[in-house]
Amino acid sequence: MHKFVLDLVKPYWKRYVVGITALLIVNFTQSYIPLLLQNTINAVSEGLLNYSDIILKASLILGLAVFMAVGRWAWRIYVMGTSRIIECDLREKLYLHLQTLSHSFFNQHKTGDLMAHATNDVMAVRQALGNGVLMAFDAVSLIIMSFFLMFRTHASLTVYALIPLPIMVVVSVFLSRMIGTRFRIVQEQFSNLTDKVQENISGMRVVKAFVQENSEIDKFAKANKKNFDAQMAMVRIANLMRPLSLLVGSLSFIVVLWYGGRLVIDGTLLVGDLVGFTMYLGNIAWPLMSVGWLFNLINRSRVSMQRLWDLFSAEPEVKDGFITNPKLNSISGEIEFKNLSFTYPNAKAPVLTSIDWKIKKGSKVAIVGKTGSGKTTIAQLLLRVFNPNPGELLIDGVDVLEYPLKTLRDNIRAVPQDNFLFSATIYDNIVFGNNESDHQDVEVATKKAGVYDNIMEFPDQFATRVGERGVTLSGGQKQRVAIARALIKRSPILILDDSLSAVDTATESLILKNLEETTSLDKQTVIIIAHRISTIESCDDIIVLDEGRIIERGNHNQLVQVGGFYAELYRKQLLEEQIKQFA
Ligand SMILES: Nc1ncnc2c1ncn2[C@@H]1O[C@H](COP(=O)(O)OP(=O)(O)OP(=O)(O)O)[C@@H](O)[C@H]1O
Ligand SMILES: [Mg+2]
Repeated sequence: MHKFVLDLVKPYWKRYVVGITALLIVNFTQSYIPLLLQNTINAVSEGLLNYSDIILKASLILGLAVFMAVGRWAWRIYVMGTSRIIECDLREKLYLHLQTLSHSFFNQHKTGDLMAHATNDVMAVRQALGNGVLMAFDAVSLIIMSFFLMFRTHASLTVYALIPLPIMVVVSVFLSRMIGTRFRIVQEQFSNLTDKVQENISGMRVVKAFVQENSEIDKFAKANKKNFDAQMAMVRIANLMRPLSLLVGSLSFIVVLWYGGRLVIDGTLLVGDLVGFTMYLGNIAWPLMSVGWLFNLINRSRVSMQRLWDLFSAEPEVKDGFITNPKLNSISGEIEFKNLSFTYPNAKAPVLTSIDWKIKKGSKVAIVGKTGSGKTTIAQLLLRVFNPNPGELLIDGVDVLEYPLKTLRDNIRAVPQDNFLFSATIYDNIVFGNNESDHQDVEVATKKAGVYDNIMEFPDQFATRVGERGVTLSGGQKQRVAIARALIKRSPILILDDSLSAVDTATESLILKNLEETTSLDKQTVIIIAHRISTIESCDDIIVLDEGRIIERGNHNQLVQVGGFYAELYRKQLLEEQIKQFA
């Protein structure tokens, strides 16, 4: 068992002790009943008992049976209940752990896999800690007690009765190995299927737009079939276990009847002893059968524990480390790139090369450049979605790596290029993570982001629910809701990554004007990434990126003067505007 599972169990060990003690008491009683019966029948056949004695014994057995029923129910609830508590803890731990992991982890792992972990694997561990533990103690204690009583009754009969049993154990161990292998395949196919469904549903609009429904249905049918085949392969083997065990088990009864019957006829065994003996055998038949089931369960949960453990051992790439200085809890807003170069993990060529750029506190700066030139990468380095090299990116003169992640992310607000809205109300989407904000803050933020009027036109206004990924909002509305989310809290640094691309130029200039007012008040440093010159024209400092290098730098007028990439872009966009006006 993995240490992490032991750690999960530790806080509840007392509950296990209580449950298992109750189980042992019940099993003790269960083994005592045949003994009682055995002695009673022997006494009856020797004429030692009268009617009232028999009624007394019968009532005693009834009482014990009721006691056992209650006891069984109690220990089941106890241990099963504890396994549910542990399952709940495990899920929470898993979820917390996933939250700590970095971007690259989620790029490398499929959502379907992660969901399969969270459902199937956690379930398998729970079964091992619930049913598995119960079975193990139940089986072992019953087997020991019954063997003892069987030997006590008749040693050679016991030896005969046990002959078929090793076959049962061998068969069940062999079968459970096979089940383990097949279970692994089932898990893989299941996570594959989950992944297909998840991806397909979230990409439904793309599927429909490209009229790929049929091919997607085909792909799904294939994954579904594979999952079915894997399940069937397992079902066939798993369900062989019980019939086979029953078959082998009945061999024991035949042996006992044959040999024990002869002993009774010969007068060396009492009838009561034979009855008791068959009852002991009955008591161990089920535990012996469950040995196979137990092996199977342990195998399954071992696979699951290993998979969960792999997940738990994934380390966040970006985290607070030994160079983190916890005293850094605020940011003023000056940024400096010092000969910064950056290569993505697992990539060959650098995406940014020798970036030298100082951004003054409270200034409004911009990055332009062709798609893929590295603009978003710069924003991600500032937020430490990825780690820059030491000493190459400074905030307020301090290496960005020294800031606790919390400080960094509390003080830098960013509207990401691929903004994401949750399936929640517009209000909740905007206050997301800022519990201290009230309705008025939301109103101000949405007004600044130029989306207030739109929201007021929605049937439920701020309480309007946004569908998954915000399907009910237009692209521009979504962008502006995301801007409002970033504006709700004052932050020394604001990054807008292509955040105005889907709004018209009139709304854009309104938003920029609003931003201008608040940022100059707060002395906020603003970095705007854009493709449209109109978005960045008024910035104090603009860099032009090309293949990860700064090729031009200056304000709008200077760059137009230079007559390079920027001037060309400007000329083209002016021309487009003029054509639009004529059209
Ligand atoms: N996680 C990643 N792993 C590896 N390479 C990446 C990753 N993200 C981006 N890239 C690569 O880095 C380069 C720069 O990407 P980036 O997103 O910074 O471009 P961009 O300038 O923001 O482009 P756009 O204008 O289209 O948004 C691209 O070639 C891209 O393929
Ligand atoms: Mg980008």
